[in-house]
Amino acid sequence: MSEDKKSFYITTPIYYPSSNLHLGHTYTTIIADTLKKFKKIQGYDVFLTTGTDEHGQKLYEKAQENGMGDNPLNYIDPIVESAKDLWKKLDIDIDSFVRSTDKDHEKNVQEIFQKLYDKGDIYKSTYKGHYCVHCEAFWTESQLVDGNCPDCGRPVQYHEEESYFFRLSKYKDRILKLYEDNPEFLQPESRKNEMVNNFLSGELEDLSVSRTSFDWGVDVPFDNKHVIYVWIDALSCYLTGIGYGKDEELFNKFWPCDLHLVGKEIVRFHAIIWPALLMALDLPLPKRIFAHGWILFNEDKMSKSKGNVYYPEPIIDLYGVDALKYYILRDFTFGNDGNFTTERFMNRFNADLVNDLGNLVSRSVTMVEKYFDGVIPQPNEYNDIDRDLISVAESAKSKVENLIDNLDFSNALEEIWKVIRRANKYIDETAPWILIKEDKERLATVLYNLMDAIRIICILTSPFITETSNKIKEQIGLSEINWDSAAEFGKTVVNTKVQRKDNLFNRLDIKRETEILNAANAKLLEERTGKKISAEEPKDSKSKKSKSKKDKELINIEDFDKLDLRVGEVLEANPHPDAEKLLVLKVKVGEETRQIVSGIKKWYEPQDLIGKKVIVVYNLKPVKLRGVESEGMLLAASKGKKLTMASVLDSDFEDGATVS
Ligand code: ME8
Repeated sequence: MSEDKKSFYITTPIYYPSSNLHLGHTYTTIIADTLKKFKKIQGYDVFLTTGTDEHGQKLYEKAQENGMGDNPLNYIDPIVESAKDLWKKLDIDIDSFVRSTDKDHEKNVQEIFQKLYDKGDIYKSTYKGHYCVHCEAFWTESQLVDGNCPDCGRPVQYHEEESYFFRLSKYKDRILKLYEDNPEFLQPESRKNEMVNNFLSGELEDLSVSRTSFDWGVDVPFDNKHVIYVWIDALSCYLTGIGYGKDEELFNKFWPCDLHLVGKEIVRFHAIIWPALLMALDLPLPKRIFAHGWILFNEDKMSKSKGNVYYPEPIIDLYGVDALKYYILRDFTFGNDGNFTTERFMNRFNADLVNDLGNLVSRSVTMVEKYFDGVIPQPNEYNDIDRDLISVAESAKSKVENLIDNLDFSNALEEIWKVIRRANKYIDETAPWILIKEDKERLATVLYNLMDAIRIICILTSPFITETSNKIKEQIGLSEINWDSAAEFGKTVVNTKVQRKDNLFNRLDIKRETEILNAANAKLLEERTGKKISAEEPKDSKSKKSKSKKDKELINIEDFDKLDLRVGEVLEANPHPDAEKLLVLKVKVGEETRQIVSGIKKWYEPQDLIGKKVIVVYNLKPVKLRGVESEGMLLAASKGKKLTMASVLDSDFEDGATVS
């Protein structure tokens, strides 16, 4: 065994090639790849396995529907190729792509089955239960919901057949102990509770692991009337990926797995069945399983079988790989469900990539070209503004590392964007366009610092949006990405030549691009599935509502900071003398009493407002409303025809307190 090493093994699920992969599969795979790139840059030897789960009744039936029942691979092969093309397009750094129909994998599955049988952990009996073809799962009578599958709600088929069983029940206590001793084994925490409450607190039944009702699978080695039922087959792809049964050195280097990334619907298979199988095989257990939430589309899980899918290809073709990666990593809180909308995607693109990052790089490089002939100048003395920029930039690396250890990709990017926004603010504060006329020596320091902040940003973004980071690297003349140097300011080499290139990102016209993107997705969906969907913006309730009230552009904390919100207490409320819908209020905000005219008469009787604690926009410019001066605004929430004032019920809130 090699004496190294900081090795790290990551897996994604082995996806069903029942139809083309969509944004949901892309999500898990982008996360896995980003983590790989991140660990790699930190000096780990990283291995990433993904692949396709090609056996089972569902796939057989799909192939049959498409006239290829006699050899399902004729149906499956093009889908697998398209998945591989997609990962290539996205620059996913895969070490092993396991197809469960690969011969070496099939051999492993048979050996594993035999081992378990020889050990007495697999035995023959009769299976009685209800089978859901879609979920490839058997359910007992009591688990059904209204007679249907408890997971997907589809009808189930009653089955009674001879089957081999795995003694899952035997491992229940060891699994509970595993959770107890290793709090990080299954994350997020809520999934662990779900497993314990739903499956491990009562009796854990043995698991049916073979079928006689179809034969699109790996034969049971000693009984070819049976095929091995999918989960032993699928889960052991994680072993095949790193050379189990073939390359002992590789296997020993990377097993146990550091992280199995999965969606929340298959957590039971990974957190109960998989450890039990590994215990039975006397293999070390994976260190961590993270079950993330779903990307929703039209408020529902994006799913091949429902056909409500968004494909990644049109997004990549129209806006580039990094636009998709950034959105996926930034906009969804890993672990929770999140809704996909083209509008959110484009808002993020314009706000974060065009405005913040793109502008910073183009403004800064252009100034070095214009004021110092494209050569990074020697800095001079630092002042407080410089020191603030330096401290924000230098502290980002360790924060990003900690967040990535917790798989918090969104906040890791936010930390990097804090540096980007600080650097943009630094330009405004130092006003280089004035310095060029007044103090070229100071300008040299400012531009050096900017280029060095961009160097740090370039390094920090490299595992996330690699293509963009490479473009920045080229523009600022950085020779190599050295991760550790991201924590040290001043590593930019004076006299390096910079070179302004095309904009990193160009602003999108959201309305127009939404139409283009939706049409491209609809076209691809029709090509791939024959299903026609409207090329309009997704019909999710959110975006429908937002037709009248659009989601606004994303803002930075600095934008929010401009608002001065305070708690006020309503002292008086009277009808406006000249307007039917308005009330004139006297509101006490700290030491001051403000007069505020508010359009809430339709919903509130004046006397009901007295004594209410409300939230006042304190720094709104005063205006006259129908001749009466209004010095502020009250926050309220409206939906349809209903409006409610935002009021503060907690009596601990003092009037005058700032809301932030
Ligand atoms: O379950 N949001 O394959 P599968 C987020 N073959 N992630 C999603 C998603 C969505 N809307 N849709 C899919 C299988 N995924 C088995 C796995 S593993 C040994 C066998 C991702 O094609 C997510 O990772 O149904 C989910 O767990 C996986 O794709 C399911 O892919």
